[in-house]
Amino acid sequence: MSTNLRGKVIALTGGGGGMGIETAKMLAARGAKVSMADVKATDTVMRAVADEITQAGGTAMVTVVDVRDRASVDAWIEKTVVAFGKLDGAANLAGILPKNFHTSKETIEEQDDAEWDRVLGVNLTGVMYSMRAEVKHMNDGGSIVNASSIAGLMGTPKNMSYGASKFGVVGLTKCAAVDLGPSRSIRVNCIAPGTIRTPMYGQVIKARGDEIPMTQQIKRDGRPDEIASLCCWLLCNESSYITGQVHNICGGYIC
Ligand SMILES: NC(=O)c1ccc[n+]([C@@H]2O[C@H](COP(=O)([O-])OP(=O)(O)OC[C@H]3O[C@@H](n4cnc5c(N)ncnc54)[C@H](O)[C@@H]3O)[C@@H](O)[C@H]2O)c1
Repeated sequence: MSTNLRGKVIALTGGGGGMGIETAKMLAARGAKVSMADVKATDTVMRAVADEITQAGGTAMVTVVDVRDRASVDAWIEKTVVAFGKLDGAANLAGILPKNFHTSKETIEEQDDAEWDRVLGVNLTGVMYSMRAEVKHMNDGGSIVNASSIAGLMGTPKNMSYGASKFGVVGLTKCAAVDLGPSRSIRVNCIAPGTIRTPMYGQVIKARGDEIPMTQQIKRDGRPDEIASLCCWLLCNESSYITGQVHNICGGYIC
């Protein structure tokens, strides 16, 4: 078992989701103490994951947080630092697809206002709220990973709010890396997954169909543990000279 995160304290949003669960488990297996956050609907799942981590000898805590609510995010990070004594890193993975994903209500002609606000609220403002709270308490030399998407690097059809939010995450990541590197040696990176088999995947497949795109080089969908590996690497010291980058993890969909 790798121990390259031993002693680190890592905060993680989207802790009840597909990527969040695998990332929390892998972080804990490599020696990190993990503080997981997610909305109410997934707190039972998250608690079960935390129990599993604890039973395996790891350390995890769970908090119900809506990343759109600044006070809730700030309180979670403060609680984490009180419980674990410090903060070394964060994985901001909470995110949603629009309800109208792949319909005309996600085109520029007909964009639905409420969904625009909801998706940008979670995927973009939520990441900003999370990073702001985390950085306030993070040790110099820390590391942050944010979830963008290949939809944050290229235009995708009928996907306005999601695409805009994920391009925004790339911008947040790069600006924060520029601000935090020189002054505090905090690294900030984002990941750009392709299609990964998580609960979000069902909604994607409904729109895309089951077929793997011709332009994808590895002819299968990705697994959440493959995302977890990348997040763990970006959060540990083995990636110490990497900041402000977008890390595509898409089976070569974008080459
Ligand atoms: N699965 C994919 O194919 C894919 C591809 C590219 C990018 N992503 C991104 O990766 C990240 C993780 O996605 P996933 O596949 O694990 O999805 P998922 O739906 O399994 O997990 C996302 C989690 O975010 C949580 N969440 C939603 N709104 C929240 C809020 N307001 N506050 C706190 N938590 C909230 C959900 O409850 C859920 O547990 C997301 O940001 C997603 O946009 C996913």
